[in-house]
Amino acid sequence: EKVIKAALLGLGTVGSGVYKVLRNQKEEMPHKIGAVVEVEKILVRNLKKASAKVENPEILTNDWKTILEDESIEIVIEVMGGIEPARTYILEALNAGKHVVTANKDLVASHGQELLECAAEHNCDFLFEAAVAGGIPIIRPLKQCLAANHITEIMGIVNGTTNFILTKMTQEGMEFAQALALATELGYAEADPTADIQGLDAGRKMAIMASIAFNSRVTFDDVITEGITQISAKDIRYAKELGCVIKLLGVARNTENGIEVSVRPMLIPETHALATVNDSFNAVFLTGDAVGDAMFYGRGAGELPTASAIAGDVFDVARNIVFECTGRIGCTCYKQLPLKKADE
Ligand code: NAP
Ligand code: HSE
Repeated sequence: EKVIKAALLGLGTVGSGVYKVLRNQKEEMPHKIGAVVEVEKILVRNLKKASAKVENPEILTNDWKTILEDESIEIVIEVMGGIEPARTYILEALNAGKHVVTANKDLVASHGQELLECAAEHNCDFLFEAAVAGGIPIIRPLKQCLAANHITEIMGIVNGTTNFILTKMTQEGMEFAQALALATELGYAEADPTADIQGLDAGRKMAIMASIAFNSRVTFDDVITEGITQISAKDIRYAKELGCVIKLLGVARNTENGIEVSVRPMLIPETHALATVNDSFNAVFLTGDAVGDAMFYGRGAGELPTASAIAGDVFDVARNIVFECTGRIGCTCYKQLPLKKADE
């Protein structure tokens, strides 16, 4: 039985989920991908805190070099978050010929191009399905299944924390701070939840989707963002009186005048499908010239839903290793074609 060794960078909410899912899938993996992926090392800062989360604490390390220099490790799964040192570690891993899977939307939204180019240069896979909408498959559908469409619009509820807060405020009259604390406890919020509640996290996800869907380079700086910190119980009440709910909505449009991407709290009629997307669920609606309207729905945050997307990426990489076709997913090559600028 072929064994492919992987390293996890981070063992927080998402890292723990990936560890569990890969362990649970051990029996099925050979039938699905022709190999077993084993977690060989896990990078954390606090070894003592992490030791209770794994069966064999000797795989824990706080030294990145022991992972980088271990030639038996072929896949690096980055779930630490933040820009640095994640960016440096990923570049070093790719330069060493290791494939990388990440859930880090901050990094993909700001440095995705650099990382994809580095991956292509080294014939490595660089996958980030979990970076947008947690467990919902959306990156691959945009990149592959819907690639033959001219996509004109994407609308999305793409932040689980704010959707959870707004749902609790609307349905249970919960205070903003209490709902945020609960979202943090449930593992939905970022380490610093400012990015969630100010709409920055959703903005990064919209930038990533717009870049792929519109074959352009849309960075977070191109996105107009407004969060939900100003939403009060009174606003929720007024919305109800109007037969509406308030949702933090991302909208990306590919118009004749250029690409427009924004994230804002909006009033949505209670009868609209988006109004029924509650708790930590996310939804993405898009319109393509061939497919028409398509909708994706599922859990947008949390330990196992996010791990589902990451482990799916890891399976893809492992399959590519087995069939010696890394640097591509199926027939999608990562080499970048000429891009349209966001303001063209
Ligand atoms: P988290 O619970 O805060 O866990 C972060 C982990 O990374 C911890 O184990 C931490 O170790 C480790 N870490 C952080 N910086 C490190 C460093 N410099 N060196 C070594 N280890 C380091 O975060 P999370 O919620 O799992 O999120 C991880 C990533 O997934 C982020 O990019 C996030 O945006 C993304 N994501 C999260 C979700 C979600 O629902 N939570 C969903 C999709 C994507 P210590 O504890 O020892 O400090
Ligand atoms: N903090 C993010 C959210 C995690 O609440 O949607 C998933 O990306």
